[in-house]
Amino acid sequence: RITLKVDSLLNIMTLDEKVGQLSQYSTLWQMTGPVPTGGTEQALYQKIKDGRVGSMLNVVGVKEIRKAQELAVEHSRLGIPMIFGLDVIHGYQTIFPIPLAESASWEPDLARLSASIAAKEASAAGLNWTFAPMVDISRDARWGRVMEGAGEDTYLGCQFGQARVRGFQGDDLKSVHTVAACAKHFAGYGFAESGKDYNTVELTQHTLHNVILPPFKACLDAGVATFMNAFNTIDGVPCTANLELQRTILKGSWGFEGFVVSDWNSIGEMNEHGVVANDKEAAFKAIVAGSDMDMEGNCYSENLSELVESGEVNIELINDAVRRVLKLKFELGLFEDPYRYCDEEREKKWVNSPSFKKSAREIAKRSIVLLKNENKVLPLQKKGQKIAVIGALATDKDSPIGNWRAEAKKHSAVSLWEGFTNKIGTENLSLAEGPTYVQKEIEFVDFLNYNNSDRRGMTEAINTARQADVVVLAMGENCYQSGEARSQTEINFKGLQLELLNEILKVNKNVVVVLMNGRPLDLSPIVDRVPTILETWHLGSESGNAIADVVFGDYNPAGKLPMSFPRSVGQLPLYYNHQWTGRPHDNETVFSSRYTDNEKTALFPFGYGLSYSSFKYSDLSLSSSTLHRGGTLDLSLSLENTGDYDGEEVVQLYIRDVVASAARPVKELKAFKKILLKKGEKKDVVFQLTEKDLEFYTANRKWEAEIGEFEVWIGTNSQEGLKASFRLIEEDENLVI
Ligand code: IFM
Repeated sequence: RITLKVDSLLNIMTLDEKVGQLSQYSTLWQMTGPVPTGGTEQALYQKIKDGRVGSMLNVVGVKEIRKAQELAVEHSRLGIPMIFGLDVIHGYQTIFPIPLAESASWEPDLARLSASIAAKEASAAGLNWTFAPMVDISRDARWGRVMEGAGEDTYLGCQFGQARVRGFQGDDLKSVHTVAACAKHFAGYGFAESGKDYNTVELTQHTLHNVILPPFKACLDAGVATFMNAFNTIDGVPCTANLELQRTILKGSWGFEGFVVSDWNSIGEMNEHGVVANDKEAAFKAIVAGSDMDMEGNCYSENLSELVESGEVNIELINDAVRRVLKLKFELGLFEDPYRYCDEEREKKWVNSPSFKKSAREIAKRSIVLLKNENKVLPLQKKGQKIAVIGALATDKDSPIGNWRAEAKKHSAVSLWEGFTNKIGTENLSLAEGPTYVQKEIEFVDFLNYNNSDRRGMTEAINTARQADVVVLAMGENCYQSGEARSQTEINFKGLQLELLNEILKVNKNVVVVLMNGRPLDLSPIVDRVPTILETWHLGSESGNAIADVVFGDYNPAGKLPMSFPRSVGQLPLYYNHQWTGRPHDNETVFSSRYTDNEKTALFPFGYGLSYSSFKYSDLSLSSSTLHRGGTLDLSLSLENTGDYDGEEVVQLYIRDVVASAARPVKELKAFKKILLKKGEKKDVVFQLTEKDLEFYTANRKWEAEIGEFEVWIGTNSQEGLKASFRLIEEDENLVI
């Protein structure tokens, strides 16, 4: 029925009106890209009335959205409603952990929950489209946008991508409590060379298909309504003009029926890439390649009609793109009621509703990773213990919100200090902020305002540390150090943070470092010098309460790293699932793949994370030494909680295809389970593998599993585990033998 409705509408549209549906504009007063060039507010309003705007981004709040929607619905000839999009990445006003942190929970259901709450708030505020999830795999912590994804691993990325799509879109796009999702950035953006945002990407087909594309396909399988293409080129062709990616793969073999929006002016930026001579050529290349909507580029609105009239672009290309856009508008119910998301009562009720706080805290505490806990300094449970809380980040109510914060109120997070005082009062707590390391209130942090060398606060911090039994030192990054356009050459502690730590260690060695950051940091300067390190990322609105839950032992941390933490920035890009190479690392010879001045391994590997308890893995057994194509293989082991606390453990299963038509990773994550065990409890954990789990994009350019030997590890992180092996065999291979 929707197809009929779309077609009958299409029949009465003029060419300009069709092109209008393919044009998206940002409001002029809030931006997520360079300043728009679309002219004044009045000019934009006129365009909407002329039916030349299909969608807007960055309009926020029911009042504003209704105002803009009225222009389209009441004043344009056909009254076609617009869709309204915003980057609702990890919450709308109730803010959840940044996606990288949330992925450290290894609980995709939590991501589904946070996305559904974000959708509930955003849709109550008038929106019906989010530019999320970002499912770019990235192996380089210098890239500021690693905070927005699920980290370095494709399998984990698939699980979290799907969960987020399901959370945003719910079971029914037509529900007013959900929003359309957008899988971005298609594709390869996370491989920007040297981690520098917007940089060139060098990619092999092998990596594209095996590493980068699967999370997008997973989102598609979960029903994602839209895709956004990427700023980068692949093989020199901008993704926006990439026929192979958008038409052959996405809309061809994958059968995607939704639409593709460009990134902010990524059509126009083809001029800068040097692959078109002007906007007209850019519009031509983009529409031919399957980019359906032009975000903030003006290329379509100013050139597509002419390109069709001159016969250069076939009208069927335009019709196809418009059909896709209108289809979503029907699916969202906008033709039945263009104002169905514009209810001020609903907005008041749901935006920042206190009922969401519990989930925000729960998800935040489950995203925390314990990296080191020598002498069991944590949890802090000794009666009367004097605790010094130190560091500018300890009282910071803004940084925990993280970047890409949608409509979060500034300074609205529970700070670490507030979380601690909420938990235990002030009697045993003392506070010293120490020197600030970055000028506060600056959104566009760059080298000019990092590295503050103002030493004020240093002496007070040292004195506070001296008088305490234990020091909790908050270290890390300001929220705007990571995110889009926040690439760094060093992933270190800016300002006087290390000096502050050095001074504190002279007077008190009992230091718990609480990290707050949006990306893996180089922890080598601190790792051997402090007994305890707790990775808390940027945890969102309930940050301080969640940290307090973990620090004081109300919750036993169980998070695991979704990205490797390097020993040095020189190791980047660093990822656990690299290939063996022809000369794998071997201590016996200098002529092997390694560094001469540092280890080649990560400081903390992918999948790593401790607990207040300890877990023993034993008795790995396989139901057979062979797996038939089309069959199943059971793998079971025993997991015992051998420590003093009840706790959860993320049991991880990795495989290696020993001989294949193309070199395979040394290990690849294929399954995981988070298991809760009471202290002393022992449980059997069972996984099942099928041929599907062994498939990859082979040298024959096909997704298939190749027969032969596979190694398998089940363990606590990507570097430790019980090992076994099996063979994949043809269905009738035993009979033949
Ligand atoms: O969605 C974003 C994208 O990720 C980066 N450029 C701007 C878009 C819209 O805000």
